[in-house]
Amino acid sequence: MSSPLLEVRDLIVHFYTREGVVKALDGVMLSVGRGEIVSLVGETGSGKTVTALSIMRLLDHNARIVRGEVLFEGRNLLQLSEEEMRRIRGREISMIFQEPKSALNPVLTVGFQLREALEAHGEEGEAALEKVLSMLRRVGLPDPERLVNRYPHELSGGMAQRVMIAMALLMRPKLLIADEPTSALDVTVQAQILELIQSLVREMNTSVLFITHDLGVAAEISDRIAVMYAGVVVEQGNVYDVFEEPLHPYTRGLLAAIPRPGRELMAIEGEVPSLLNPPSGCRFHPRCPAVMEVCKRVKPRLVEVEPGRLVACHLYGGE
Ligand SMILES: Nc1ncnc2c1ncn2[C@@H]1O[C@H](COP(=O)(O)OP(=O)(O)OP(=O)(O)O)[C@@H](O)[C@H]1O
Ligand SMILES: [Mg+2]
Repeated sequence: MSSPLLEVRDLIVHFYTREGVVKALDGVMLSVGRGEIVSLVGETGSGKTVTALSIMRLLDHNARIVRGEVLFEGRNLLQLSEEEMRRIRGREISMIFQEPKSALNPVLTVGFQLREALEAHGEEGEAALEKVLSMLRRVGLPDPERLVNRYPHELSGGMAQRVMIAMALLMRPKLLIADEPTSALDVTVQAQILELIQSLVREMNTSVLFITHDLGVAAEISDRIAVMYAGVVVEQGNVYDVFEEPLHPYTRGLLAAIPRPGRELMAIEGEVPSLLNPPSGCRFHPRCPAVMEVCKRVKPRLVEVEPGRLVACHLYGGE
């Protein structure tokens, strides 16, 4: 088997705050294969965005990467210079965010910003403009010749997100990181944007790390899914397998909590822990219905229980 395009290994990230050290990521393990769409799911605060920003090396200044590797085509991005990283952003890996409008500069036209993105990587002039117009057409925006002269506030949320997708895919990156790209949009637009991302990346053979807290969206868009809890990836596998037979007690709880017609919502008991003072051993142990003594002391490693099926839980051995 060839090595994955992206592999995050044992990533530990802390934030230094006035209240203390926020232990946001506690050994995140994650991989994305070539041409694959992987969803990273988890409740709010579980560390999805911090994982994405670590990969892009765009963490806030109070962050410290304590340990770990972010291997992209086998190179550890955490060891590159800022200069080398700038060449990778946009060209090899690009990212789209939840709030498309806040990612666009309000005082510059759409066309200017798209061309600027290309110029940053050495493409200018007529050819660059052509590329911009053709990309805008591909993301389903009508009349791109006029659109390039408009300002972000003149766009609807859905249009702005299409512009962001165009910008992200302009350089045909190998990896697209999409952080809740549809959660600020209304449901119909959301569905259109998901479909657009899916068809474009399939066509361009772009890999995607798709971040969402919506399991329905994850089921629809991805090949594989990684479930995060309190800074840890607790389970990973093919979407079908994870939904059909969740292994980790947290994933089981999460799936049981999806409201279905005729079935009551079952919330997982207890609260998401504070990352200033996270639980010892397995971070899920205080809420786990299957908790054992060992869970309070020893952090379970993510182990492969079947090919492609990984879980970090003492119920499945591995310490
Ligand atoms: N700059 C920062 N300073 C201190 N703590 C931070 C900082 N950035 C993130 N955190 C903390 O890291 C943890 C993970 O945050 P993150 O934004 O990755 O969550 P998330 O899974 O993306 O949640 P959401 O679904 O709400 O977007 C949270 O406890 C958050 O408060
Ligand atoms: Mg987030």
